[in-house]
Amino acid sequence: MVANSQKAIEYAHSHTDGFLSDLKDLLRIPSISTDPERQDDMVHAAEWLKQQLVNLGCENSQIFSTPKHPVVYGDILKAGAQAPTVLIYGHYDVQPVDPVDLWATNPFEPTEKGHELVGRGASDMKGQVVASLKALESILKTGALPVNVKFMFEGEEEIGSPNLDTFMNEHKDLLACDIVLNPDAGMIGQEVPTIVYALRGLAYFELRVYGPAHDLHSGMFGGVVHNPAQALCELIAGMHDYRGRITIPGFYDNVRLLSEQERLELSRLPTDEQFYLDMTGVPEIWGDEKFSAGERVSARPTIEVNGILSGFTGAGTKTVIPAWAMAKISSRLVPDQTPEEVDMLLRKYLEGRAPKSIRWELTTYGGGPPCITERDLPATRALAQALETVWGKPVVYKREGGSIPVVASVRSILGAPSVLTGFGLPDDNAHAPNEKLDLPTWYRGIDALIHFFFNMEDTIQVNN
Ligand code: BES
Ligand code: MN
Repeated sequence: MVANSQKAIEYAHSHTDGFLSDLKDLLRIPSISTDPERQDDMVHAAEWLKQQLVNLGCENSQIFSTPKHPVVYGDILKAGAQAPTVLIYGHYDVQPVDPVDLWATNPFEPTEKGHELVGRGASDMKGQVVASLKALESILKTGALPVNVKFMFEGEEEIGSPNLDTFMNEHKDLLACDIVLNPDAGMIGQEVPTIVYALRGLAYFELRVYGPAHDLHSGMFGGVVHNPAQALCELIAGMHDYRGRITIPGFYDNVRLLSEQERLELSRLPTDEQFYLDMTGVPEIWGDEKFSAGERVSARPTIEVNGILSGFTGAGTKTVIPAWAMAKISSRLVPDQTPEEVDMLLRKYLEGRAPKSIRWELTTYGGGPPCITERDLPATRALAQALETVWGKPVVYKREGGSIPVVASVRSILGAPSVLTGFGLPDDNAHAPNEKLDLPTWYRGIDALIHFFFNMEDTIQVNN
């Protein structure tokens, strides 16, 4: 096996230019899943991926349409029935690019800056999708694939994967696998090979507050009309106390507490307060001091305002009481909370708290449950070994604060556990202007994935 993996690694090292140029092609497609104007681009990205699968040698590759964005499927099942089947997950959609004037370059014209590649989706997660494809290309061009692989690339992850569960339920046999490789998680730092073993869930809402039938002169009516912007802020402010704890009744009831062992492990990660100060540029860290910063962003739930809109925000002044106000609000969930339960608790809170002087409406968007994955799977060991081979140091295990809805879904629908990896870094500006990918880390990632596929075969043989 050593010889085979070595050939694949040599292939990868001598084809970096081609790998990078393929990644750039994918990054040029503005596949923003939430933007209705990008429908054609979504199809274009799906077709691009399907072509890559065909080039790779997938005999069976297909684009499945869904009520929104297509799923790309492919497989290479030539390793025999004894060999494990790895389902490789990826998403080809990206987040919106606004505020676009804060980008130094066109978000959809990938630009190399030193050792970084700047562009929307470079890190989250087109770079990771292409890394997986290129690891497999390196193996297939230099020998045989030691495992069976299936691909499932969706276009709706960044909007909460609203149609993926139905798709998976309808294609259980096609998608049947032993393990899911999900490279949509990231690393703590360039020199910190990381395996993610838990993700937070997400519940997403839009809260609208309505006041007068139309905007009013604030002099003629100020003092008798409850300003909807103010009422909205009061409702939002009431969701936390001064220590940063959530005050919605029952919110923490199903939050699983960390064991002392896990607290100890998390405390050893290099994610201390200084890490968050450096990464974010805030003047001071905030939040519930009963938990460390590292615990708060991974094992504790949150409620956040993602955006807020009301009234006059143009240049100059205008004296007005706006007719309405709205906020996009989301909640990161941890085991054993569910999106449904948080939806119910938030509605109850609003019913109990909203004043009679306004009317409110809460819309629920797609989200997903939190999850913890097993850490002692053969596939996790295969991945740990692969990362250790490339980085030359032990991996760290981390709970991630972000969400990937498919991880809980593949477990419940396909019965398959996931191993989570990825070669994005905390300062990649994911979801923000000037998203970038660290290319040396990306190339190491491709090597690591090559080792992973070979290790998978070894692991299974040992177990048999
Ligand atoms: N790749 C991220 C998830 C992630 C974030 C992993 C940070 C590791 C570190 C994924 O693409 C993502 O952004 N997911 C959304 C999911 C949501 C829209 C349901 C998220 O977490 O906001
Ligand atoms: Mn994302």
